[in-house]
Amino acid sequence: MPKPQSPLPINFDRVGYKPSKEFAKQAHIGSASELVKINSAAAKNIEKFWAAQADTLVWQKPYREILRWKHPRAEWFVGGKLNVSENCLDVHLQTWRKNKAAIIWESEDGNVRTLTYQQLHSEVCKAANALKGLGVKPNDVVAIYMGMVPEAIIAMQACARIGAIHNVVFGGFSSEALRERINDSKATVLITQDGALRRNEILPLKKTADEAIKKCPSIQHVLVVQRTGLPTSLARGRDIWWHEALAAASTECAPTSLPSEHPLFILYTSGSTGKPKGILHTSAGYITQVKYTTNVVFDMKDTDVYFCTADVGWITGHSYVAYGPLACGATILLYEGGPMCPTPGRFWELIDKHRVTIFYTAPTAIRAFMKAGDSWPLRHKLDSLRLLGTVGEPINPEAWRWYHSLIGRERCPIVDTWWQTETGSIMISPIPGATTTFPGTATKPLPGLMIDVVRKDGSSCKVGEGGLLVIKHPWPSMARTIFGDFSRYVKTYWSEFPKTKDCSGWYFTGDGAKKDKLGNIWIIGRVDDVVNVSGHRLGTAEIESALVGHKTVAEAAVVARRDDIKGNVLVAFVTLRNTSKKLDLKKLQKELKDHVGEEIGRFAAPNEIRFAEALPKTRSGKIMRRLLREIVSGNTITGDTSTLEDFSVLEHLRFDEE
Ligand code: WT7
Repeated sequence: MPKPQSPLPINFDRVGYKPSKEFAKQAHIGSASELVKINSAAAKNIEKFWAAQADTLVWQKPYREILRWKHPRAEWFVGGKLNVSENCLDVHLQTWRKNKAAIIWESEDGNVRTLTYQQLHSEVCKAANALKGLGVKPNDVVAIYMGMVPEAIIAMQACARIGAIHNVVFGGFSSEALRERINDSKATVLITQDGALRRNEILPLKKTADEAIKKCPSIQHVLVVQRTGLPTSLARGRDIWWHEALAAASTECAPTSLPSEHPLFILYTSGSTGKPKGILHTSAGYITQVKYTTNVVFDMKDTDVYFCTADVGWITGHSYVAYGPLACGATILLYEGGPMCPTPGRFWELIDKHRVTIFYTAPTAIRAFMKAGDSWPLRHKLDSLRLLGTVGEPINPEAWRWYHSLIGRERCPIVDTWWQTETGSIMISPIPGATTTFPGTATKPLPGLMIDVVRKDGSSCKVGEGGLLVIKHPWPSMARTIFGDFSRYVKTYWSEFPKTKDCSGWYFTGDGAKKDKLGNIWIIGRVDDVVNVSGHRLGTAEIESALVGHKTVAEAAVVARRDDIKGNVLVAFVTLRNTSKKLDLKKLQKELKDHVGEEIGRFAAPNEIRFAEALPKTRSGKIMRRLLREIVSGNTITGDTSTLEDFSVLEHLRFDEE
């Protein structure tokens, strides 16, 4: 693993964005001093802090012990029993929320369907009973391969209700990728839909699933949701229509009482090798921290309409669509379609129509909207919004400011939330009523967490010094293992800073970061994206941020190419913003290099700038730098490409090179 980069300048004098008085007044945590108090009490007794959050849940049996930590095995709320679905649904049925909208779903073609908490509860119970009818028992794995429809959430909740472990596979994955994930998890039931409507097209999910399960010996039954009416064949004895199975099922299904550490779900994520990792999350700790963070980071209120654009196939869709908001009794807007469909104004239209108050999306989406032009958001009022969030990658200040002014109309705080599939919930983030934010930093760790930026030897970094981001104390929603491969879990996350007589043994995030003098953490990016050029260590994310700060640039990805003299040189792939002016690309290449030189330093300027029409991305929108690295080094592309958004983009890049 490469050593982290040397210090790069952070503009310490930049004026931050303070929460407005109006926002602070109504917020759950409404001042910096209040947050300091919460933080210091939590730091004094981390376990007590999390126990207080766990005590907001309904327990079927109280826990005896808050944390049992035998490095690197964590058990939270030992001896307790609860049910996650009960804590998301049943808890609201005794209150006025019974008839509150839990899910407002809008299809891509504009149909709206609303499910109240009572209705959602009935559907979940029916689905849970249907699963039981198919022989599903606690600890059985149920694969879910669906689009953004309410049934996806109903299916997840139904699994949680009966103690089955769900394995949601993003609907954009190929049959190969689905098969690998089903086989690794040994799922016995698959829930899918005939087709999913996405970008004006019907994705034939059942057909793709059929292809996958030809070689999935563990699958016994397939439940098929009818969404599009796409002609679909059902295998006799194996496949059942969802609506038929549910029609025959009772609307009552008592939540199964499950131990705190009962597995809740497996979610596959890409590692540094080709084989995806099945991240395993468990029940009580997960729902405790997901509920707490939904409350304080999104300042969730009963009057809110919350819109998270993440697909349920990713961790954000698990924690901040399917679980956290429901545990808080919130109203979720669930949108089926793509962000640009039929126009780049679709999200803004949805926000105005449903009076959305909280909007949570990814920097990559924000940059795509920037590229599409200001006129799209300017056509809409967006006056219901009160809070914005981002997640998934560092947000470049340029995009942050655009989001703040064009979407938030300079009125809404922005929470830049850092976390990972493995952390289960948000770890570093502003508290919107209390934290002064700075474009480009997720600011500080949330209460009850011990996070630091350290050197390879474990000592804490100085202000401005690049280092490794570590978590020094277990947290409730941490991944417990990689499904079926505990030793890979230990090797990947707990071996960089192992337990010794001087070190308690820390979790290594894989991210590089630095702290500023206010204690804000600036994520540089994955350490495998850190590059050494002529002895200078550079975060590619930082150079990309500089490039994107140039008025002509929409997106940029910087990768390294080996160089005999400098060790590495940088190659930047750049897409340009829409403009009517004809650009002199040769001149622009020089201008962009100079621009990076000005923003960071001459040494950071890419050796080469290549223009592309689009960048190759994973389905979740992350730029596939590994592939770009292979392109610049002239190798053919190998490894796992099952997460590619658009192979044609790749072909194009290779073509450009010739
Ligand atoms: C990696 C985790 C967490 C849900 C979506 C991604 C990067 C995530 C931020 C942020 C800078 C971020 C990190 C992290 N990342 N959020 N706010 N600022 N970087 O989940 O696919 O597990 O990826 O995404 O590099 O390690 P994931």
